[in-house]
This record gives sequence, structure tokens and C-alpha cells, in this order.
Amino acid sequence: MANELPSESRLQSSLEMKMPHELVFATRNAHKIEEARSIVGSHFTILGLDDIGFTLELPETGNTLHDNALEKLRTFVKATGRNAIADDSGLEIDCLNGRPGVHTAHYSGSRDARLNMSRVLDEMGESAIRTARFVTVLACSFQGQEFIFEGQVRGVITHEMRGNDGFGYDPIFIPDGYEQTFAELSPQVKNSLSHRANAFRKFMEWLVSVD
Ligand code: IMP
Repeated sequence: MANELPSESRLQSSLEMKMPHELVFATRNAHKIEEARSIVGSHFTILGLDDIGFTLELPETGNTLHDNALEKLRTFVKATGRNAIADDSGLEIDCLNGRPGVHTAHYSGSRDARLNMSRVLDEMGESAIRTARFVTVLACSFQGQEFIFEGQVRGVITHEMRGNDGFGYDPIFIPDGYEQTFAELSPQVKNSLSHRANAFRKFMEWLVSVD
């Protein structure tokens, strides 16, 4: 079930040629940073905004995940001139016509994860159609050029919250092929198949493939 990263030696030599050993992930979400570090392993060091003392807020005013990822990235790059990555992620539920989508982070009107999940579960009620996907849009700025990588994982929404691991909507999302929610599965399993893992995998494959 776990997807493979590019081979160690190909990845290592490509990364050494193309990227610095440290890469800024323009986020303050400690969960995202921890997952990204686990996904990329020892290939390079991921630094969050707090690690580099960056204090400006990164706005998210777009109508799509794609727009928001680029907005965060561009705000950071304009202020620092550094190579970086930024992401925007969301949960798209089929019977809710793709909601919460770009409104995932504050669907209940707050950032409180339990309130957000409660709103989703209330809106879905006993709907028999419970299919959904998590999506991550990962934007990268490298030497003045922008690149976009999208990852997704499909699954179903539970009828109640289950599990204590992870963050955000993990307690109500069961990835295809499993019976436990992301909050019940180990971080290793989540990080082998999540939307974020798939976006980072594409990013790292790109690093290997470009001349
Ligand atoms: P943003 O990408 O920082 O705007 O966050 C979007 C929101 O999506 C987060 O606040 C979480 O509620 C949710 N989210 C993003 N990734 C995950 C995940 O891996 N599991 C559960 N919820 C997530």
C-alpha cells in the first residue's frame, strides 16, 4: 500500500546538485512540518517559519487551494528572496458538492478542529454516500521559478470522530484500503499514503527528473 520514493542514491545526488540542504516550508502548522519532515526523511532539512524567525502573516485570500498555496509562497519569497515551498490543503466531500474545500481550515467559523468536524458530520447526516478526498497543493519557488505539485488521497467519512493521532479532520477520514481513521492509524502509515505524502513525492520526483 505504501508508495515508493525515488531511489536513495538518485535522489541524494539530484538534491545535492539542485537544492540547498535546508528548505523553508512556509507554514506555522507544526503538524504539517512534522509530517513533511517524516515524509522527506534525511534528504534535506525542512525549516518552518518559526525556525527562521519569520513573523509576517501569510495571507490566504484565494478562492482555490491552488491560489492560496501560491499566495503564501509569493508573500514569503517577496519578503525574503529565499527558495521555499508552501501548501494549501483541503477536504472535499462528494455529497457536500466538494465542501468544505477551500474553507476547510475554518469551516465552522473557527479553526477549532472538533467544531469543524461537527459541522461536516451534521451536514452529512446519515447520507449513504460518504466518499471524499484530501488534497494538498504544494507550491515551490526555486531560483525565481514556480512549480506546483498536487497530491490526493481518497477515502470515506465516518459517522463519528475516532482516534487521537494526527490533526484537523483526521478523526473522521478513513483512507481507501483501511478500516481505521487517519487519527487511529500510525503516523508512519498516514505519511506513506496521505495527500501530503503524494504531493511531496511528486515534488521529489521532479527534483530527480529535471536537468
Ligand atoms: P491550510 O492548508 O493550512 O489552509 O489548512 C487546511 C486545513 O485542512 C487544516 O486546518 C486542517 O483542518 C485540514 N487539513 C489539512 N491537512 C490535513 C490532514 O492531513 N489531516 C486532517 N486535516 C487536514
